[in-house]
Amino acid sequence: MITDGQILDYLSAIEPDRSNILETIENEAIKLDIPIIKKDVQGLLRFILGIHKPKKILEIGTAVGFSSVLMSEYASKETSIITIERSPYMINLAKQNIEKANKTNQIQIIEKDAQDALKGLKEQFDFIFLDAAKGQYITFLPYCVKLLKTGGVLISDNVLQDGNVAKSRYSVARRYRTIHTRMREYLWEINHHQLLETTILPIGDGITMSYKKEK
Ligand SMILES: C[S@@+](CC[C@H](N)C(=O)[O-])C[C@H]1O[C@@H](n2cnc3c(N)ncnc32)[C@H](O)[C@@H]1O
Repeated sequence: MITDGQILDYLSAIEPDRSNILETIENEAIKLDIPIIKKDVQGLLRFILGIHKPKKILEIGTAVGFSSVLMSEYASKETSIITIERSPYMINLAKQNIEKANKTNQIQIIEKDAQDALKGLKEQFDFIFLDAAKGQYITFLPYCVKLLKTGGVLISDNVLQDGNVAKSRYSVARRYRTIHTRMREYLWEINHHQLLETTILPIGDGITMSYKKEK
């Protein structure tokens, strides 16, 4: 967490109510220690979906389906969501949650590793939410750019790694150095990509927000 805890608690206390099903899925995920998007990122998604009104959403990293269900609630009823997950354990929980939320008509899970799934997708999306293994973001980026419509929005989560990404490689524990290097490459690439206009925001564990420009 890179935002001050007291500020987050205050902001969380004045937030509008969410649906019971979102509360339930979030509480279960917390109990099972499964990472899902933080409250401030939830607020940002609500806002962006409200103004951008995507018809087709792609999510990479379903986990228990919390963010998929949230996006389905804040996008229009006609919006379809494809979400990619490789863990059978997560897929099972996500399916149960999507059913409980009554969203099986809107949310489809692709049960594959994202690299294979992304290669197989032919349609383009108005909105892509990247929330999977951080070390793979740099590999997924070209697919995301290709699959994003011009004017479409790409958000990626957990990019600042508790602030570690801003520290020197040598001050980070040895086991985190590869991911540190890869995330720095990703942030450089997404910031300098010719087809993307990007801003990086220090909310949640850090997000990037980009839109795809005309060629
Ligand atoms: C942070 S969680 C996603 C949380 C979810 N978006 C939410 O906020 O409710 C990341 C998920 O991505 C999945 N994942 C990581 N790398 C993946 C890959 N290469 N292909 C498919 N799924 C992947 C993990 O199994 C995990 O469930």
